[in-house]
Amino acid sequence: DVHGLDDHQLGARIGARVDGVRLGGDLDEATVAAVRGALLRHKVVFFRGQDHLDDAAHQAFAETMGPLTTAHPTVNTGSARVFRVSADKGMAANAWHTDVTFVDRVPAISVLRAVELPPFGGNTVWANTVAAYDALPASLRALVDDLWAVHTNSYDYAQHEEDSEEPDAHYTRADFTSQLFETEHPVVRVHPETGERSLVLGHFVKAFSGLSSTESVAVFTLLQNRITRLENTIRWTWQPGDVAMWDNRATQHYAVADFGTAYREMRRITVAGDVPVSIDG
Ligand code: SIN
Repeated sequence: DVHGLDDHQLGARIGARVDGVRLGGDLDEATVAAVRGALLRHKVVFFRGQDHLDDAAHQAFAETMGPLTTAHPTVNTGSARVFRVSADKGMAANAWHTDVTFVDRVPAISVLRAVELPPFGGNTVWANTVAAYDALPASLRALVDDLWAVHTNSYDYAQHEEDSEEPDAHYTRADFTSQLFETEHPVVRVHPETGERSLVLGHFVKAFSGLSSTESVAVFTLLQNRITRLENTIRWTWQPGDVAMWDNRATQHYAVADFGTAYREMRRITVAGDVPVSIDG
């Protein structure tokens, strides 16, 4: 129980289901603080039965967590804040990633709502990048504490979309910008709210600064394997009305593409974040 919230921890390292909250823009300050506390502690929190949410109420709830970003840095959605994550044609996020790490100010928090679910499959899995850092032996900490990585969107949704034959149902080819981002981040960041150290890696990493591409692949594989170790993850089976909210500064996630040709649609709203700060400040 966090400040009167009914939260049920789902794993030793990550994940909790929070009951008894009707999400929206009208939550009182104490509830907002309690939800945020649960998020910071558990890294991803799940709310069931939020069927009343439409895009506006989803957005109003997300705004209680902080100022929002535009929907996606390489998808032209204008000033819209709601990003449709649909299953069609390369939009499935079936690679371990932290959302849009290729920009300098990595989003802080993502709020994802199930809109249309497939008849089977389509789970999402999250991994705790703070616990992964904490579990590193001293020798590997010495390796990562000073290491920086280049993140790029040259493999992102937009790229997949350009490669696909047909445009996505919601975002046509013309909606994607060809803007290529390349941003260097410390591999170990200090979380701006908790002070915890977390590993900043995932699908958008291109290479580590000062290492060759072969060496980068070896180090990346070593560290990603630690982050995505099953004990470090929580897997969520979506039901209609579910909302998941995760701390993008302390997690990676993976949408499991095991629902065949069925349609799956989620909507995501992203709360703005800071430039990651290394342990040297
Ligand atoms: C995402 O990467 O934000 C989407 C996750 C999902 O579709 O489950």
